[in-house]
Amino acid sequence: MRSRMFSTFRVLQHDNPLGLPRSGTPPSLKSRRGLPQKRKIRDVEKVIAVSSAKGGVGKSTVAVNLALSFARRGIRTGLLDTDIFGPSVPTLLNLSGEPRLDENNCLIPLTNYGLKSMSMGYLLPQTQTDTQTGEVPMDTTPISWRGLMVTKAMHQLLHSVSWGPLDVLVLDLPPGTGDVQLTINQEVIIDGSVIVTTPQDIALRDAVRGFGMFQRMDVPVLGMVRNMAYFACPNCGHQTKIFSHGDGDGSNHSCEDRGVVAECKRLGVDFLGDIPLDARVCEDADRGMPTVVAEESAERSARREAFLGVAEQVARKIGLEWR
Ligand SMILES: Nc1ncnc2c1ncn2[C@@H]1O[C@H](COP(=O)(O)OP(=O)(O)OP(=O)(O)O)[C@@H](O)[C@H]1O
Ligand SMILES: [Mg+2]
Repeated sequence: MRSRMFSTFRVLQHDNPLGLPRSGTPPSLKSRRGLPQKRKIRDVEKVIAVSSAKGGVGKSTVAVNLALSFARRGIRTGLLDTDIFGPSVPTLLNLSGEPRLDENNCLIPLTNYGLKSMSMGYLLPQTQTDTQTGEVPMDTTPISWRGLMVTKAMHQLLHSVSWGPLDVLVLDLPPGTGDVQLTINQEVIIDGSVIVTTPQDIALRDAVRGFGMFQRMDVPVLGMVRNMAYFACPNCGHQTKIFSHGDGDGSNHSCEDRGVVAECKRLGVDFLGDIPLDARVCEDADRGMPTVVAEESAERSARREAFLGVAEQVARKIGLEWR
């Protein structure tokens, strides 16, 4: 009782609970010397962010295939994994090992399939190979960082990597519309974002929230990708819309009032295309040879063409030469 009275009294001593004066000019905030300055990433022409507020919809899969599509067309490309807590790029590109530092103490990216990459996953202690099985076990160490440490790590990933000249850097964003997304936008100029969703309402709602975030951050939204759009039977080729939810392909008027295509129209955002749900997309990702590379020599691959189709549109939208 005594302590409650005391705390109430303390609050009443001020004009209001935050201690701001009621009259006169409001106190100016001292300039915070530590506040980051939004700037371009050194030696990088364009930056695009692959994002969705929803987890597990295929952001990393789309990001890596997009980046590889660019790289295979001779566009100088980098892929930055900004998912500090669940980095996927080392697995997707089958890369590991600690990056070396250049003479300016900047991290030198690791490269595979002609694509430069950087990820928190490269900077963590590596698990040792099991001497009996010869396999590298999955790492059980959680990355349990808070606020400032995450911001600092992100700052270093954004500004302390020696990319060399790049035409485009693709950012693989973690799920959500929170701290990491805001930090990135505070620190670097993003030329455009690609929003990934799956057909379900539950994913689309979050994708639309992601759209709202980029709009508020003044980042142009290049368009939406509908991942896992349909399952094509490997035997007969029949397409089943497993996750379909009132969605159309834009040509069927009866379906146009709901779903991803309809939502794109409502928001005034381009629909960039469908990626099929295909076990091989997942297998390719797991073995570190994403579809765009794995199927390079295939005569016709709907999966690869789907990724290339999205990449071509994105390239043209940000002014990259698509050869
Ligand atoms: N079109 C697809 N067909 C089959 N499997 C897919 C497809 N797209 C993604 N996957 C698989 O779904 C899983 C999730 O994909 P991914 O890691 O790219 O999602 P994410 O949105 O980046 O997830 P997170 O939010 O955790 O970062 C992975 O196992 C991936 O291989
Ligand atoms: Mg991911």
